Amino acid sequence: MRKPVIAIDGYSSTGKSSISKVIAKKLGLIHMDTGALYRGVTFFAINECSDENGKIDLEKLFKKLNDIHLEFKKIDEELILFLNGNDISKEIRTNEVSGNVSLIACQKEVRDYLMETQRSIAQKGGVIMDGRDIGTVVLPDADYKFFLTASIDERTKRRFLELQSLGIENSETEVRENLISRDKIDSERAVAPLKKADDAILVDNSKMTKEETIDYILSFIS
Ligand code: C5P
Repeated sequence: MRKPVIAIDGYSSTGKSSISKVIAKKLGLIHMDTGALYRGVTFFAINECSDENGKIDLEKLFKKLNDIHLEFKKIDEELILFLNGNDISKEIRTNEVSGNVSLIACQKEVRDYLMETQRSIAQKGGVIMDGRDIGTVVLPDADYKFFLTASIDERTKRRFLELQSLGIENSETEVRENLISRDKIDSERAVAPLKKADDAILVDNSKMTKEETIDYILSFIS
C-alpha cells in the first residue's frame, strides 16, 4: 500500500519539525525539514559568497548554486544535514544563519534550486515534509496538509529554550524579533510566500503540548 504524503507548513517555532519527526517515526515515513535546506544554502552563502564588509553577494551565490550539495544522512536515528560532505547540523542554527535565512529564501534562484531535492524525495510517497510552501507549491497534491500557528509569546518561549539547549546564546527579545522579522519576510515575499493552503487544516497549538498537537494531527490521518 502506498504510504501518505503529508505537508506541514506554518509560522516559525510552531514545532513543525519536531512534531513531523515523531509522526514520521510513528507512521514509518521519511521526514524532511526543508527549513534546514534553506539554512544550509545560507550557511554556504555567508562563508563563500560574502563581500569584504560581510554582506552576502547574491549574484555570486546564484553562480555557485551548483557547488552546493546538501544531503540528509541518518545517524543514530537523527537526520543530519551535510554540506559537501561536512556535518553542518549545528552551524545552521546560529544567530547569523537565522538572521540571513529569510533573505536568501526570498530568492527565486535558490527556491528553484532546492525544488528538485524536495520533490524527488516525495515521489514514492511515504514522506512528511515541513516548511513554509509545501502544501501550496512544493507538494500541492499532498494527501494531508496542515498549517501550524501559535501565539508569538509561546513561540518565543519555545525557540528560546530550544536555542538554550543547543548552547546558543540569545536574549528572549532577540529571539522574538527574529521570529517576527522572518515571519514577515516569509509571508510578504513574491515567490512562494508562507500561507495556508486552502485545503490545509489549521492547527493553533498555543495551548497544546507537543504530544497533544501530534495526536490531533494523527486523528485526521487514516
Ligand atoms: O523551518 P525553519 O525556521 O528552520 O526555516 C528557516 C527559514 O527558511 C524560514 O524562516 C524561511 O525563510 C525559509 N523556508 C522557506 N521555505 C520552506 C522552509 C523554510 O522559505 N519550505
